[in-house]
Parts: sequence; C-alpha cells; structure tokens
Amino acid sequence: MMQAIQIQEFGDPQVLQVKEISIPAPGPGELLVRVHAAAVNPVDTSIRAGRAGGLSGASLPYVPGFDVSGTVTAIGSDVVNFKVDDEVFAMVDLRRGGAYAEYAIVLENEAALKPTRVNHAEAAAIPLVALTAWQALFEVAKLQKGQTILIHAGAGGVGSIAVQLAKWRGAHIVATASDYNHNFLRELGVDVPVDYRTQNFEDFASDVDVVLDPIGGDTQVRSLQILKEGGILVSIVGLTSEGRNPSRNVRATSILVRPNSVQLSEIGGLIQNGIINPIVSYRFPLEQAPLAHEQSQTRRTRGKIVIEID
Ligand SMILES: NC(=O)c1ccc[n+]([C@@H]2O[C@H](COP(=O)([O-])OP(=O)(O)OC[C@H]3O[C@@H](n4cnc5c(N)ncnc54)[C@H](OP(=O)(O)O)[C@@H]3O)[C@@H](O)[C@H]2O)c1
Repeated sequence: MMQAIQIQEFGDPQVLQVKEISIPAPGPGELLVRVHAAAVNPVDTSIRAGRAGGLSGASLPYVPGFDVSGTVTAIGSDVVNFKVDDEVFAMVDLRRGGAYAEYAIVLENEAALKPTRVNHAEAAAIPLVALTAWQALFEVAKLQKGQTILIHAGAGGVGSIAVQLAKWRGAHIVATASDYNHNFLRELGVDVPVDYRTQNFEDFASDVDVVLDPIGGDTQVRSLQILKEGGILVSIVGLTSEGRNPSRNVRATSILVRPNSVQLSEIGGLIQNGIINPIVSYRFPLEQAPLAHEQSQTRRTRGKIVIEID
C-alpha cells in the first residue's frame, strides 16, 4: 500500500485528502517510480474543481498530478531505456495523472534521466512547463536567433522557463509581469520587462516575431496587433474569435502540451549545463496539497509550487 492524494469528489482544495491505496503495477512499457517530488500546475486545480474541459480522463476516484521526479523501483516488459534505481523526471500524459503519490506509473516515453545538478524538487518543477514552452517556441513558432519574442506572464511557471529557452536561442525578449518581478525577469534574461498592471506592452514592443500567450482574452487580441506581418502568436489558453480569424496577416494557434521524452532529455541537458534553472518558490508535504492548490489559485506564484514526498 502507499499514501496518495485521492480525490473522491470534485470540489474545493479540501477534497485533496491523503488515502492509503494500492501501489500500481507497471505494465508493458511502463516504469513504477518512487515519487520524491511532484509539481502543481494550474490544470491540476481545474481538474480538482471539476472544470477539466476536454481532459475527460479525470474519472473518480482520481490521483492528481502530471510532474514527477523520483527513482525507478520496477519496470514492465519491453522497457529498454531505463532500469531499476535510475533517477528520472517525467511528464505524465494529461489523460492519466497520478503524481501526488508515493508511487506513480510513468510510461517509458514520458520519462528522461533526471539531471544530477538539481534535486528532485527542482527536477519536478520542470517537465510540464518546459515541454509547453519548448513545443510553443521551437516546434510551433520556430523561434530564431535575433527574433523578438513577447512572453506574457514571464514570471510564472511556463513563462520563467520560456524566457530562459528564448534567451538560450538568442532572441530579444520582452516580457510582462508585476513590477515586483522585474529584477527576477532581468536575471532570467529578459531585455525589456513590462508591468502589465500600469503599462501598455504595446509601448515597449512592436514588429514582434513571436508572442507566447498564457493569458488570453484582451491580452491576446492586443498582442495580435503588434506582431509583424507573418508573425505568430502561440496561445496555451485557447484562441479568442480574433485569434481564430486575425484581421491582419499574422498567424495564431493554440497548443496543448504532450509528453515527449526526447525533448525532455534535451531540456535535461540544458539544466545539467546550467542554461536552464528550475524556479521553486513553494514546497509543501503531501498532506498539505490543499495549501499548494490555494497558492496556485492566487495566480501570483513565481516559478513553481512543488509537493515533496518522503
Ligand atoms: N495548453 C497547455 O498545454 C498549457 C500548459 C501549461 C499551462 N497552461 C495554462 O497556461 C496558464 C499559465 O500557466 P502557468 O503554469 O505559467 O501559471 P502560473 O505559474 O500560475 O502563472 C502565475 C504568473 O502569472 C502572472 N500573471 C497573472 N496574470 C497576469 C497577466 N494578466 N499578465 C501577465 N502576467 C500575469 C503572475 O505574474 P505577477 O505575479 O508578476 O503578476 C504570476 O507570475 C494557465 O492558465 C495554465 O492552465 C496551458
């Protein structure tokens, strides 16, 4: 048996309760991972509240969590790239979850070796947000050296990694955050921080090649106006009607992150080389998962919230 956070009804953070449940057994292509840390993502709070949208995999009872860092304790048949005692980090598919637990099932093609330079809490802070940023900036927008990118919510989970990836790529970076986060943004590599509460980002960015949009709504509509001809906005919160049908010669698209062990290995290499640094602002033990969700719901977190599991 193991301890896990198991939701028996959707609702407020108090539905996140510690339960004793069976340790899952790994099937073909699966790893059983002793979880040392899991990260909290805004989607976890949406699923917990019963607002999962298209993520219909969240049937009750449900163990939340998509980010895992831990040690492989057993492997199923057909696993070729990992062995027992490997230290791994992973993004579990959004249709499954299961990270807020002492043990989790991770598919071989969701995992990569954990960079040894960081601890488990730091490694757990990476997979979902870094894969989101990687897929938005490199797979979809094909961000190039010397281009200008506007990154909204640059201090958040996705934004703080997107800034570091864009810096590594050699882009000129404009990013929005509250003023108390501007020094933090500069340390991450932002060239021009903009306070979205008191300033118009349009005054600081024009002829932009790429916009990363974790905000949507009016922010998205205004961002389309400062893209250069042929530029692209990548939303991670869905497109507005203007985004679906832009009035100018620009492109807009929305993505949903997918696990990808090859990309995660590359990201792990950047962490190992000190190019990407995980940002962990809050750590909670498993039984305080409700507090972790309350913090996430403030939408004021710098970097990530992590749940540490002994
Ligand atoms: N489609 C996908 O695959 C995908 C993947 C990951 C995330 N998402 C979604 O993307 C969104 C962001 O995720 P996240 O993990 O980065 O969230 P997060 O870490 O909770 O974001 C918190 C940050 O948002 C900033 N912020 C809040 N309102 C803002 C605004 N109006 N303008 C600029 N910044 C603002 C805050 O900055 P200040 O404190 O400086 O104000 C804070 O640093 C969420 O809705 C999430 O569900 C989608």
